[in-house]
Amino acid sequence: MKRVRIAMIGYRFMGRVHAHAYRTVHHFFPDCPEPELALLVGRDEAALKQAAQQLGFKRWTTDWRAAVQDPQIDAVDISSTGNNHCEVALAAAAAKKHVICEKPLANTLPEAREMVLAVERAGITNMTAFNYRRVPAVSFAKRMIEEGRLGRIYHFRARYLQDWILDPQFPLVWRLQADQAGSGPHGDLNAHLIDLSRYLVGEIESVCGMKETFIHERPTVDGKARAKVSVEDAALFLARFQGGALGSFEATRFAAGRKNHLTWEINGEKGSLEFDLERLNELRFYSEEDRGTERGFRRIYVTEGQHPYVAAWWPPGHILGYEHTFTHEVLDFLRAVRDGKPVAPDFRDGLRCQAVLDAVLRSTSTGGWEHPEA
Ligand SMILES: NC(=O)c1ccc[n+]([C@@H]2O[C@H](COP(=O)([O-])OP(=O)(O)OC[C@H]3O[C@@H](n4cnc5c(N)ncnc54)[C@H](O)[C@@H]3O)[C@@H](O)[C@H]2O)c1
Repeated sequence: MKRVRIAMIGYRFMGRVHAHAYRTVHHFFPDCPEPELALLVGRDEAALKQAAQQLGFKRWTTDWRAAVQDPQIDAVDISSTGNNHCEVALAAAAAKKHVICEKPLANTLPEAREMVLAVERAGITNMTAFNYRRVPAVSFAKRMIEEGRLGRIYHFRARYLQDWILDPQFPLVWRLQADQAGSGPHGDLNAHLIDLSRYLVGEIESVCGMKETFIHERPTVDGKARAKVSVEDAALFLARFQGGALGSFEATRFAAGRKNHLTWEINGEKGSLEFDLERLNELRFYSEEDRGTERGFRRIYVTEGQHPYVAAWWPPGHILGYEHTFTHEVLDFLRAVRDGKPVAPDFRDGLRCQAVLDAVLRSTSTGGWEHPEA
């Protein structure tokens, strides 16, 4: 397969990021099948037409069902809000189209289960878009852990902090409405942390969490009324991993001054690794094997050709950014489509993440420890 014809649902934040990734991927990774931005889907005709022209799509439509069934389409990219993921994915599976879906995979655990069944039965390539696995520094950390550089892992400690709704007058956008978003920073931000923890440390065995909504009512988007916020503003939980490690997770939109502050630290018997998304070209590594009085955290600049994905880009020290993680994500998706092979994280990974999210929410009601039930 030389070309993969893409229908993309959604053209705002993730739509723009994914379109950018499709447009750059073949330029830097010429062995990858060339994606064709064939069809863009949205709901507002005028804005959609403008987006299609700006992002480089050949055609556009407001009918996602027609797009998914279009014989001129090979793969469907679901970059829409969470309430739309399940029905589009089921239709894509029925039409035997390969599918990449933004996170969280679904708004509910039953939806995620249904989606996994559908894509596995259809035998199509399926991917959940947890792009942070494909920050070169994160992929490199995974390699170091697999090589045993940390030894047995004791702790995973992660935070994803933002502050964009700190102002009580910030309007009630879709992310603050449960019928569209499913949950607040839990499904939005903790989902990323859970996926990273599964990638780097392993499966989560049990969780205990809490959540809070600080501002209960906000102005509607048109400014004409006030309405109830139906998601949490912050969600925190503790976890026990199957391998014996202990985890702590924190996601909030009320951390004043924090914009997109995703950090994690892993402590093992032989050392530690630390990552900060706002300095994503770097990894900090402490090794017990270093000797003497100079022992301490060192900064690994993950911009060398030997580091994952980096050789295709710039000379050492010529840094990469947020958008490159999506280029790497679509690269691996397109290669899997061409080769007819699985790619991780797939929908089953998305489901396992969803099961952890769900267990945490159950625990906020029961007040006790809960087990993920994928
Ligand atoms: N991987 C990441 O780091 C990351 C970052 C942000 C958002 N996301 C995820 O991406 C998804 C979209 O979020 P966003 O920030 O791009 O939102 P957004 O509000 O910027 O865009 C949402 C898009 O969905 C489209 N849409 C919704 N329902 C539709 C329908 N029925 N038919 C056609 N189009 C429809 C809208 O028209 C819009 O273009 C969410 O699942 C979100 O959690 C992932």
